[in-house]
Amino acid sequence: MIARSDLPTGRPAWVLETNRASMLLCLGADDTLYLPYWGPSGTTRNAADFLLEVPGNRPSEATFLDGQPLAYPAYGMPTFKEQCLVVATDSGARGTRFTFKTDRVADDRLELDFHDALLRLTLTLHFTCHAELIARKVTLRNEGEQVLTLERALSAALPLPPDQYDLVSLHGQWGREFGVVQRPLMPGKVTTGSTRGISSHEAHPWFAIRPRGERAEHAGRVWFGSLAWSGNWLGVFEVERNDALNIALGIQPFDFAWRLEPGATFETPELVCGVSEHGLGGAARQLHAFEEQHWLPENHRARLRPVLYNSWEATHFEVQVEQQVELARRAAAMGVELFVIDDGWFGTRDHDRAGLGDWTLNVRKFPNGLRELIDEVHGLGMQFGIWVEPEMVNPDSDLYRAHPDWAYHAEGRSATFGRNQLVLNFARSDVRQAIHEQLRHLLADHGTIEFVKWDHNRAWTEVGWPESPAQQREVWVRHVLGLYEVLRALRAESPHVLFESCAGGGGRADLGMLRWTDQVWTSDNTDAADRLDIQYGYSRAHAPRVMVNWVTDVPNEQTGRVAPLEFRFHVAMQGVLGIGGNIAEWSSADLSEGAALVAEYKAIRPLVQHGRQFWLRPPTAIGPCGVQYVAHDGSATAVLLYQVRGVRGQGARRMVLHGLRPEARYRRETDGAESTGAVLMNAGLPATLVSTAERHPRLDWRSTLQVWRTV
Ligand code: DGJ
Repeated sequence: MIARSDLPTGRPAWVLETNRASMLLCLGADDTLYLPYWGPSGTTRNAADFLLEVPGNRPSEATFLDGQPLAYPAYGMPTFKEQCLVVATDSGARGTRFTFKTDRVADDRLELDFHDALLRLTLTLHFTCHAELIARKVTLRNEGEQVLTLERALSAALPLPPDQYDLVSLHGQWGREFGVVQRPLMPGKVTTGSTRGISSHEAHPWFAIRPRGERAEHAGRVWFGSLAWSGNWLGVFEVERNDALNIALGIQPFDFAWRLEPGATFETPELVCGVSEHGLGGAARQLHAFEEQHWLPENHRARLRPVLYNSWEATHFEVQVEQQVELARRAAAMGVELFVIDDGWFGTRDHDRAGLGDWTLNVRKFPNGLRELIDEVHGLGMQFGIWVEPEMVNPDSDLYRAHPDWAYHAEGRSATFGRNQLVLNFARSDVRQAIHEQLRHLLADHGTIEFVKWDHNRAWTEVGWPESPAQQREVWVRHVLGLYEVLRALRAESPHVLFESCAGGGGRADLGMLRWTDQVWTSDNTDAADRLDIQYGYSRAHAPRVMVNWVTDVPNEQTGRVAPLEFRFHVAMQGVLGIGGNIAEWSSADLSEGAALVAEYKAIRPLVQHGRQFWLRPPTAIGPCGVQYVAHDGSATAVLLYQVRGVRGQGARRMVLHGLRPEARYRRETDGAESTGAVLMNAGLPATLVSTAERHPRLDWRSTLQVWRTV
């Protein structure tokens, strides 16, 4: 909902309102656009009710806009805070000064046009109100005759009034993505982001701001946002000299410059933002609902994700048709619905030193074609999926031998290899076309392939395009746009295919990828204890239906830890369940326990994938943690409780549930125990993971799944 009104100053103002948040925009005397309010949705659509009184600077500095809540600070304005926009001309002029031109208010969209008469540049600020969140971006259109260079073009600034705040952000590295970090914001800037080519394992383009020291999961105000960009990005959280907060996010300005030709338009990625009055949990649920209702590719948005088997950890590069058939038979017997063959099926891919770039079948491994395996998988009642890493090339490949210049390279400098591979220049249309063509054939030639796992396994270095010096500083962005273009085309050609985004685990799990892919491989670390932390962090930003988790073998491939099979399943059930162990070597007892657990998961899958998620207690080193999934109408709930490590005599914790109907009676499926919604939400249920009656109880690796339904 968007309402325009005039302030007592006679200048226009706009109130944007979703079910949860309001944002006030207003124009100052000098056409500066202010954003003086971003907070919980109010009861007014009248801008004058906000009692605007923006504190100014001391008289001698009154013309400066420091500490003022600017909606889009641009270099050229009299301010010294983090700028969203820097524009330069070839003749050396720098900076912009915009005047307001017009607004367009249509349904839930607002567009505000500003114009720089000297540069003949139009800046449009776009706002879209979704059910709960507001999405922002800008477009820049060159209406003059000279080329303009965008040296920086962030998506948005989000100011908050002077106060004391904490920043929550997600950090890690390969194998331990999505660690939740909360830190106080002090005068100065906290800068986060990526310069690795992908959004990265190290920092995820999501943030939350909380009042200083607030740590409650379900209470307290949170301002949060998520940037829909899969490449280099920047997030700046700046406490200004009057304690006001300036937040700015967008495409990373480092090594970026975009030549905006006359008549051309540049569009930034969207920054989606919201306000929660129910802590980080409430913020997460708003983002989950946004992905589910507005953002994920529409054709599979509402579809329950299939239980999958992935053969990577079982067979690595040693792929053989008979052994994959054997795995498929066992997977089908356990109730798996989608069989995915991972790396190693193509080109000369016997190890990670060869083959990337040649997306044709390895005939030595599949002498009768891939059809043999696909038909077998389909005959077993499962769908068939395949792994690719299309943006990469091994020097030992036919593609590289024919086109060495297709990989990024710096003239006269040696290349740095990551996993023995180089990055293909997806900014080049010939590269995109060639790879697209190969993938199109792959999907068309082998019968029905219903799933593609799209991987990306190295950070970018020597990101040079010597053949096109004018576009050199555009490659970081052009690559990402090119990637989206290929994914968009493949989806249009093969709408039945479900796409999974992967980058050595969760290195590119952002909203940008989730516009064109349906789910994400969360991490290469499949250790169940580590996964509790990783999945908790991931679920701060993304919905369970886009979080893929596998049950793998013990001792775990990455950590050597040994967790019981049921515990591994219970952890993997938090999102999209997969099995990734060598089931050819599982005992018959494990296979039947696995089959029973797959059936249990299928029974709760609608709650997990289509319900609402509440973390009851975050994963901690000692004692129980838990997560709950509730049907939107409160009629049923699934509760998963875990204890990796326990201490004798700790006392039973109680887990207070959420989202139930207070007056309804609920029955627990396992033992028929009954209670009311009000009791379960106030007194909670005992997290009985260890029987205190046992003399030597096993305290570690305990887990349970309880399902409660209304009577
Ligand atoms: C990294 C992925 O995250 C793994 O799941 C697997 O697909 C390997 N790449 C294959 O090379």
